[in-house]
Amino acid sequence: MKFFVDTAEIEAIAELNELGMVDGVTTNPSLILKSGRDILEVTKEIADLVDGPVSAEVVATEADAMIEEGRKLAGIAENIAVKVPLTWAGLKACNVLTNEGRMVNVTLCFSANQALLAAKAGATFISPFIGRLDDINLDGMELIADIRTIYDNYDFQTEILAASIRSVNHAFQCAHVGSDVMTAPPKVIKAMAEHPLTDKGLEAFLADWEKTGQKIL
Ligand code: E4P
Repeated sequence: MKFFVDTAEIEAIAELNELGMVDGVTTNPSLILKSGRDILEVTKEIADLVDGPVSAEVVATEADAMIEEGRKLAGIAENIAVKVPLTWAGLKACNVLTNEGRMVNVTLCFSANQALLAAKAGATFISPFIGRLDDINLDGMELIADIRTIYDNYDFQTEILAASIRSVNHAFQCAHVGSDVMTAPPKVIKAMAEHPLTDKGLEAFLADWEKTGQKIL
């Protein structure tokens, strides 16, 4: 499973990128607001930093304006994926931008039928929002599994990009059901390395090592 980082914070991306953990980055208008940065400038910096796809989201709601914004965002760097919402206008923009050879990430997906439409429109990525479904007591992971089945049934090439990941359990479940990609906040990716038995075991090994009086270096 590929790891995308869901942030517009350059330092956090750089830290994970040094470990080879970053296959791509996703941003959205809320993350741009949180970063306090100009969208064009920060997107360029991120795209220069990582090799994989960097999603930058349009904010227009009409197809023609989305297409214009998408072309401008895609012009920032070769590795930009234009993010459009899963509306009828967004699907139209997806189709046009895909036919121009651009990567498109269709976002705000909450149903398997929406994902089917995005694949038909030629999306590079479909972004089902797991956490936001869980927030309203629906099963986000069931949606990922349903989309996996549908895409595999018909050999759609659109990649499932599990989004709105809130926990390490979400990360595990995404890998388990065969999501192609997950995009998660840096803190979730880092938390995947944590285990209390690792901490406890390390503490015991270091205590015993101290007693040996030896040094490696
Ligand atoms: C990524 O593409 C999404 O915009 C993001 O994962 C949404 O996450 P949230 O529901 O935690 O805001």
